[in-house]
Amino acid sequence: MHWPIAFRTGYDQAENASELVSLDEQPLSTTWEAMAKLQEKGLTKHIGVSNFNIPKIQKLINDTSIVPEMNQIEIHPYFQQNELVTFCQKNEILVTAYSPLGSRKLTSTGKGPDKEDIILSIAKEHNATPAQVMLAWGMERNTIVIPKSVNKERIKENFGSVNVKLNDEDMAKIATLDRNQRLSTGAFAVFADGPYTPESIWEE
Ligand SMILES: NC(=O)c1ccc[n+]([C@@H]2O[C@H](COP(=O)([O-])OP(=O)(O)OC[C@H]3O[C@@H](n4cnc5c(N)ncnc54)[C@H](OP(=O)(O)O)[C@@H]3O)[C@@H](O)[C@H]2O)c1
Repeated sequence: MHWPIAFRTGYDQAENASELVSLDEQPLSTTWEAMAKLQEKGLTKHIGVSNFNIPKIQKLINDTSIVPEMNQIEIHPYFQQNELVTFCQKNEILVTAYSPLGSRKLTSTGKGPDKEDIILSIAKEHNATPAQVMLAWGMERNTIVIPKSVNKERIKENFGSVNVKLNDEDMAKIATLDRNQRLSTGAFAVFADGPYTPESIWEE
């Protein structure tokens, strides 16, 4: 389930509130049970969720007894999500870190985590690039990192992060960069007259 948001049948994006369905009308647990049926029928091998917080995962498990295999969430040095990562790992839910380079922020402001002195100095020490350090940091936390690049050299560079091993001191330094700074806000599903608010998506 890509987001804890329901779309009216036939839509996978919403241009207005009428193209969305509230979770009272279409509970996440109903969608989740339907996904489990697809898995039982062999139509999919694995099922998971994305952009789910702790209460939403907990409720899904309580309501259906089906634990997601994966939660795919935004994670980068500016948005580390420690509590959610710990919760998932305790419950044996794999965590995929999306936007692991935090670079949408970089594009919009010119300053992303790759420009931080801490990342630059760790990169220098390990003879690595800032992107490789951020990906190595994600892997050291036992999360799966999925950087996106359309550039052949940067794709190769990103694969090279598997050879970068950060130590406890590096990890502790990067931990200090957390700013609780979310880039993917779910704003695409928030309309003044609609069923979703930022609070309903992230806090409830
Ligand atoms: N589940 C969800 O709701 C959700 C939401 C957002 C994203 N995602 C997924 O997460 C994946 C990645 O996320 P993202 O694209 O938002 O962020 P990202 O991977 O953190 O950053 C991508 C940006 O970083 C640049 N980049 C890639 N490698 C680099 C390198 N080695 N050095 C410098 N810049 C580099 C890319 O430019 P170039 O292409 O020019 O290299 C691109 O601008 C995608 O597969 C996406 O589908 C999932």
